[in-house]
Amino acid sequence: MRVRMASHLLDAAYITKYNRAYELMRALPDDDPRSFSQQASVHCAFCQSAYLQKNSNEKLQIHFSWLFYPWHRWYLYFHERILAKMLNDDTFALPFWNWDNQAIFSPLPNVIPAVFIENPALVDNTRAPSHQPPTLVDLTYSGKPGGLDPEQQRAENNNLMHQELVSGAKTPSLFFGQAYRAGDANAPGPGSVERAPHTAVHLWTGGDMGNFGTAGRDPIFYSHHANVDRLWNVWKSLGGRRKDITDPDWLNAEFVFYDENATLIKVKVGDAVSTEKLRYTYQNVPNPWITHISSPLSISIAGTKPVSSNGVASPAAAEATSLLEEIEEFGEEVEGKFKQLAGSAFQSKVKRPVKDLFKTLKKQITDEELEEVLVIQGVEVPSDKISKFDVFINLPDANDKTSINIPEFAGTFVNVPHLGMGPGMNRKATLRIGIGDKLEQLGIKDVSSIVVTLVPKGQGKDVPIVIKGIKIEYE
Ligand code: C2O
Repeated sequence: MRVRMASHLLDAAYITKYNRAYELMRALPDDDPRSFSQQASVHCAFCQSAYLQKNSNEKLQIHFSWLFYPWHRWYLYFHERILAKMLNDDTFALPFWNWDNQAIFSPLPNVIPAVFIENPALVDNTRAPSHQPPTLVDLTYSGKPGGLDPEQQRAENNNLMHQELVSGAKTPSLFFGQAYRAGDANAPGPGSVERAPHTAVHLWTGGDMGNFGTAGRDPIFYSHHANVDRLWNVWKSLGGRRKDITDPDWLNAEFVFYDENATLIKVKVGDAVSTEKLRYTYQNVPNPWITHISSPLSISIAGTKPVSSNGVASPAAAEATSLLEEIEEFGEEVEGKFKQLAGSAFQSKVKRPVKDLFKTLKKQITDEELEEVLVIQGVEVPSDKISKFDVFINLPDANDKTSINIPEFAGTFVNVPHLGMGPGMNRKATLRIGIGDKLEQLGIKDVSSIVVTLVPKGQGKDVPIVIKGIKIEYE
């Protein structure tokens, strides 16, 4: 077993070894598939630039679908084996950048770890100059400083983690992303962690990391993804329906990579579900966001809180509920209808369908386990630009200053620009967010409709974002 360790906790000997491995990899001739430049290019070979889908003329795209997690696991696996080969040290494992850990003790896990600043082979000079330590990682970053003090930043980061791994990702498809089979249109829709924190950390690190076409040129990329990969294991440990996908189309999906001997190897998704089988494991670190509880809004603004935070209806709540009633319903996707969000928030009432209609379809699942899912249909954003919006429930006044460390925050959508996909090309996806726990936490699990507010944010705030429908379904 090789042990992947937290990159802020490495000892001097390991750091020397780590830097040496990249030095040797960088020294390989460019035409060696194991060279650093070729390794970096592997990333976007698989993001709509080199491979075709099986029996199709569509180029393969491994982001924004259920292939995201397993593909990146295999990519790192071979990258790590090549680094080990460079060192002739079979025990070498990639350190993980523990940005989800909001500990306040030095060395801080949630800043750019010193190892990537002090060791020449691990440096990339294109990173955002303003995001050097001690600036804390913003796990919902979208191209514009949030201006939060460290305590608030930590709270928001913890709530984002809780939202995207615990309360909003109770089923495999919410976590992994949507089904993507040979012949399907690319990028049907990302899973929770892929949207944020994953994408946000790319943008926040900046420079090469801020674009999928160049991200692999920064050695921190592989450490960032080792943490994303670790979270797959953590998610599975949380129980309930949090298990690997069993669909054969997922398990049998195949990719090719060059291994440590420069031999082309074909691998299957099904062989990547267990890190134990791949002979690596992760150093144990605390994951305190698992039990994080967001802070209820301290002031109840009319129209923003139908019930108090403990779930008890207050007199003001009745009034607020009637205000919510007045908000119009956008409704689900129908031909020709769309809404363009350009810089300002958009509210819509959303009806909750009767659960029983769906129950029979999902025979294996108990009523208790059936998850309520908010679906934002037909999301369309320009591929070459950063764009982002946050989703709030029953908070019609939510705006780009609203804290995300509140129970009303339900999730986020973030797009990373993409080299090679120029102006005029749009990324289309469906956004799916699990909201069962959320409604319970807000004390509104018996209401017949909710109000959903979409808030464009950050640098891409004014980028036109199109949506085509909003609905709720059960899975
Ligand atoms: Cu292939 Cu973090 O992206």
